[in-house]
Amino acid sequence: MPISPVLERQTIYPFVRLNEAARRVESRGVEVIDFGMGDPREATDPLIRQALVDGLRDRMGYPQAQGLPELRTAIADWAERRFGTTLDPDTQVIPTLGSKEAIFSFPQVVVDLDAGRDTVAYTEPGYPVYERGALFAGARPLAVPLRERSGFLPDLDAIDEETWSRLAVFWVNYPNNPTCAIAPLSFYERLAGLAREHGFVLASDEAYTELWFEGPPASALQVADLTNVAVFNTLSKRSSMTGYRSGFVAGDPALVAALKTFRPTVGTAPQEFVQRASIVAWGDEQHVAETRERYRRKRSLFLELFGRKGIRVAGSDATMYLWLEVPPSEPAESSEGFAERLLEHGILVAPGSYLGAAGEGYFRVALVPSEEDCARAVAILEKVL
Ligand SMILES: Cc1ncc(COP(=O)(O)O)c(C=O)c1O
Repeated sequence: MPISPVLERQTIYPFVRLNEAARRVESRGVEVIDFGMGDPREATDPLIRQALVDGLRDRMGYPQAQGLPELRTAIADWAERRFGTTLDPDTQVIPTLGSKEAIFSFPQVVVDLDAGRDTVAYTEPGYPVYERGALFAGARPLAVPLRERSGFLPDLDAIDEETWSRLAVFWVNYPNNPTCAIAPLSFYERLAGLAREHGFVLASDEAYTELWFEGPPASALQVADLTNVAVFNTLSKRSSMTGYRSGFVAGDPALVAALKTFRPTVGTAPQEFVQRASIVAWGDEQHVAETRERYRRKRSLFLELFGRKGIRVAGSDATMYLWLEVPPSEPAESSEGFAERLLEHGILVAPGSYLGAAGEGYFRVALVPSEEDCARAVAILEKVL
C-alpha cells in the first residue's frame, strides 16, 4: 500500500510519547498530575456554551469557508479594541477551525517551488506544526533557534541573502510557546519590512496574546503596513475553547483572498453553531480577565516554589507556561531524564528537547491543572526537587 514518504518519516508527535509514558506510570498506581500539554481544563464561560446551544438548528447546512459575516465583524471589532487596528471584515478576516489546521496548511497556499520560493522558516523550540506543514507542502523547513541571550527572539542578522530570497513563509510565535517571551512591536515592524523587501509572508501565530501578566503584548496586526502579513489567532487559550475549534487569520487582503480560494476545497470552515458561540466569546473580555487571574495565581504558586528550590526561571512573562532551566547536576541530566524522574513522582512536565533541539536544558510547565492540583503538585515537588 502506498504511504506518503513524508508521513513515514514523521516521528511520533512528541506529546503522544509523553502521554504514553504517563499511562505506564499510572498503570503502576501512581496518580499523574498533567502539566504536559497546553490544553486548558477550565470550564468554558456559560454564556459561550449557551450561545453554542442556541446556535443549533433543525438543519445545519455546509458552513461557508468565509464564515458568518457577524463572526468576521466580531473578530474585526475585537482586533480594533485590542490592537487599535482597523480590519475590513469582508476582505481581511477569515475564520478557521482553530489555528492548527490553518497553520499546517498555510505553506500549501504560499509555497511556490517552481519560482524557488521553497523555504519555510520557523523558530525552535516551538510548536511542531510549522515544520510538519512545511514538509507536507514539499517545502524546505528551516529551524531558526531561539536563544535566551537574545531574549528568545530569532537572530535575523544571521540569515543570509540567499535564504531570504528563498523564503515563502517566516513563522513567529509571540507570546512564545514554550519560552514565554514577548516580542516588541519593533520586532514585527522589522520582520514585516523584510517580508515586503524579499517577498515572503510574515506569518504570526498569536495563540497566546491574551494570556499576559504585566501588560497586553503587541501583535503583528499593529505594523504600519500589513502587506505580506498574516496573523493567526484562536479562542483555544484565550477563552479555554480548545474543543470548539475556532480561530481566524487576518491581515493582507491578498492572503485572505488566497485562503478564501483554498479553504472550500479543504472543507475547514467552523460549524455555524461554533461560529455563533465564537461571536459571544470574541465580544466578552470579562471571562478572559478571570482566566488571566487564575493563571496568575497558579504561576505565583510555582514561581515561589522554584524560587525556594533555586530552579532558574528562564521565561514566565506571558502564556500559560513556565520555561525553566533543568537544575545543573553532575553528571548533567538531560531534559528528558529530568522529566522522567518527575514523572516517577506523578508530575508530568514537557522536556524542552521535545519542543526542538534548542530546548535541551529546559523544561516546560503548562499551568493547566486546577488550582487544587497545582497546590498538590507543589507539595510533591517540594520533596522531590
Ligand atoms: C504556539 C501554538 N500555536 C497554535 C496552537 C493551536 O491552537 P488551536 O489549534 O487550538 O487554535 C497551539 C496549541 O497548543 C500553540 O501552542
